[in-house]
Amino acid sequence: MEPRLFLLLALASAPAVFCATNAQDDAALRDVMSQWTNYPSSWNSGDPCGGWDGVMCVDGRVTSLRLSSVNLAGTLSTSIGQLSQLVFLDLSFNKDLGGPLPGQIGNLQQLTTLILAGCTFNGEIPTEFGNLQELWFLALNSNQFTGGIPPSIGLLSKLFWLDLADNQLTGAIPVSTSTSPGLNQLVNTKHFHFNKNKLTGTLDGLFSSKMTLLHILFDSNQLSGLIPDELGGITTLEVLRLDRNSFVGAIPATIGNLVKLNELNLASNKLTGSVPDLSNLTNLNVVSIASGQLSGQVPNGLFTLPQLQQVVLNNNQFNGTLEMTGNISSQLQTVNLMDNQIVSANVSVTSYKNTLLLAGNLLCAEQDPTSKPYCSKQQQNGAPYISSTAQCGSARSCSGNQNLDPSSCGCAFSYNGKMVFRAPFFTDLTSGGPFQLLESTMSAQLQLRPGSVYLSDIHFDSDSYLQVQVKLFPTSGTAFNLSELIRIGFDLSNQAYKPPKNFGPYFFIADPYAPLSGAVAGKKSKMSTGAIAGIAVAGGLLVIALIFTSIFALRQKRRARQLKDRADPFGSWSAGQKDNGGAPQLKGARFFSFDELKNCTTNFSDSHEIGSGGYGKVYRGTLVDGTRVAIKRAQPNSMQGAVEFKNEIELLSRVHHRNLVSLIGFCYEQGEQMLVYEYISNGTLRENLAGKSLKSKLTIASMNLIAYFLSPFRLNC
Ligand SMILES: *[C@@H]1O[C@H](CO)[C@@H](O)[C@H](O)[C@H]1NC(C)=O
Ligand SMILES: *[C@@H]1O[C@H](CO)[C@@H](O)[C@H](O)[C@H]1NC(C)=O
Ligand SMILES: *[C@@H]1O[C@H](CO)[C@@H](O)[C@H](O)[C@H]1NC(C)=O
Ligand SMILES: *[C@@H]1O[C@H](CO)[C@@H](O)[C@H](O)[C@H]1NC(C)=O
Ligand SMILES: *[C@@H]1O[C@H](CO)[C@@H](O)[C@H](O)[C@H]1NC(C)=O
Repeated sequence: MEPRLFLLLALASAPAVFCATNAQDDAALRDVMSQWTNYPSSWNSGDPCGGWDGVMCVDGRVTSLRLSSVNLAGTLSTSIGQLSQLVFLDLSFNKDLGGPLPGQIGNLQQLTTLILAGCTFNGEIPTEFGNLQELWFLALNSNQFTGGIPPSIGLLSKLFWLDLADNQLTGAIPVSTSTSPGLNQLVNTKHFHFNKNKLTGTLDGLFSSKMTLLHILFDSNQLSGLIPDELGGITTLEVLRLDRNSFVGAIPATIGNLVKLNELNLASNKLTGSVPDLSNLTNLNVVSIASGQLSGQVPNGLFTLPQLQQVVLNNNQFNGTLEMTGNISSQLQTVNLMDNQIVSANVSVTSYKNTLLLAGNLLCAEQDPTSKPYCSKQQQNGAPYISSTAQCGSARSCSGNQNLDPSSCGCAFSYNGKMVFRAPFFTDLTSGGPFQLLESTMSAQLQLRPGSVYLSDIHFDSDSYLQVQVKLFPTSGTAFNLSELIRIGFDLSNQAYKPPKNFGPYFFIADPYAPLSGAVAGKKSKMSTGAIAGIAVAGGLLVIALIFTSIFALRQKRRARQLKDRADPFGSWSAGQKDNGGAPQLKGARFFSFDELKNCTTNFSDSHEIGSGGYGKVYRGTLVDGTRVAIKRAQPNSMQGAVEFKNEIELLSRVHHRNLVSLIGFCYEQGEQMLVYEYISNGTLRENLAGKSLKSKLTIASMNLIAYFLSPFRLNC
């Protein structure tokens, strides 16, 4: 056979499937990729708009990059700024993705959504972000950013969500001046999440009644000065957390105008004076102003607010008599007034029967027997809720990194993460109701099987955030595929998932996904079309000849052999018996279990079949790490002996050339012989043909040719 004839045939039979990525976007994306490892294996070949995981295009322009939770590692190239039609950029929950953010992101004039939560980006937030005129959603939380908040953020007039929480940001929150913009201009923004930074300065000039904020989360910073009166003008406000700062002075009376407020937390400041009249805040669920210097009498009216669940005023200087009489909220669970100077209490035991803590007050020192029940330091709480797996039987457990799926009682690689509610409207963690609603809304909205959400380790952390460990289980198979991971990660990072209202604002940080870390992560090649184009044709032809000769010789030999060692050949391999040479010496190829390959081809279904021949059938499949593979499954009558099969695997696994469709692994189990190749569809190969040099055409054609020789099948897709 004359190789050139094959080249011509391969070229001539190319169907006209072609989806070109715009040249600038193509080059930019490949440059972005060049600074990453662990990108999806679909990025190793083909056209970005023609099937790269996480890339979405319109008319050949890249409009969306969604790569949440895929264990990306590396830094973000300045070339990201060349993707001029980009609308969505979500790289969240890739904890090995870091370094400084390029200012070129500011060139992305179409960008509406930028989510980098839960990575390790550092350095300053680029001031160029102020150029992102369309930006609606900005989440930079849980990184390592330093420096100040750029005043230019105040120019983002369409911004809805601004989350800078959990970084190392310093300096004051910028307010506009005659020469500089400021965050006071963000009158359309609903969310200011700046908690857990090192912000300093006052809030003077930041707030006005033009604002429409729902959440102000400034807790755990070093902010100082007075709480501004103007805050009371933002009547849309639902959550106000200024706790764990250094605010001084009295709580402004205007707070009493925030009629939509659900949570008021001003704890751990240096606030003085009395509690203002809050009697109009009929939506209030939680009041915490612990650890301050408040004084005077605890206002009786507070306890009658109809939604109120928790009042935490411990560690202040409240004095006089505690009056807890009249129509006390039926919702009220806890009143903590420990360590104040209260001398007596008039508590109507008919209207309030729940927790009241008064230890550390004068009335407890006086040994007044009627106050005894309130003087204990303990809150008698039951165990927090945990999802049940009782239906699976008590003995059921899973090994390795797998967990028990409560919906199927099978073991699977769950997608795990920590959900943090920054101001829940309830405090009782023992009651299952709210959490079962969390489970069911999560499985429904994230399109998972009912019951496949497992919640555990529910507790309030030291920042008064409600933490919930979440495990999500795959609907089919034992692991999520890459596109599912990206989809779920995005739904959780951009708040597409909406928990029940009483959970309040949340953020989610995913753990690295077990099937993507470890063994599979290291093996991805960095082959690009550029690299393919650079390979010399001569080298390719040499390899073709070599492979052809070897395979041909092997095949001839095989036909002459009897089918022996078929009973349990894998057993003797693993036992390392010398009669068939022990386990195969493999370079890069690995063993796949029968079940693994069965799962990734949906039980070898017809829809996954992409070719057949005398040897058996070829199936298309996607491994749990997202690698696309072609699986050659031998028919019983075409099985080789164990030694031949082993030899073939060894040979194929040693031949690693960039032109070749490489062998990823094999299965030799349950009477099956299967070879697993990297899957390069003809369409993908062909996409590279147009517009490339003749040299590259020949090289790609030779890849087709090699694939043809290695396999007795034509991949007819
Ligand atoms: C509560 O609301 C009523 C009716 O709007 C108003 O007259 C009253 O002054 C308010 N009280 C406080 C303390 O703001
Ligand atoms: C309670 O505290 C206020 C403010 O510090 C003070 O004016 C008042 O005299 C105190 N009352 C009692 C009974 O100690
Ligand atoms: C007590 O408060 C509830 C709402 O929490 C209300 O429905 C009820 O009418 C009130 N009763 C009295 C006597 O004010
Ligand atoms: C307790 O409060 C009720 C209702 O305000 C009142 O009638 C009663 O006299 C008070 N008791 C004491 C000992 O102050
Ligand atoms: C990923 O899994 C989902 C759900 O199991 C399935 O619908 C989808 O086709 C899979 N995608 C790929 C690329 O295998």
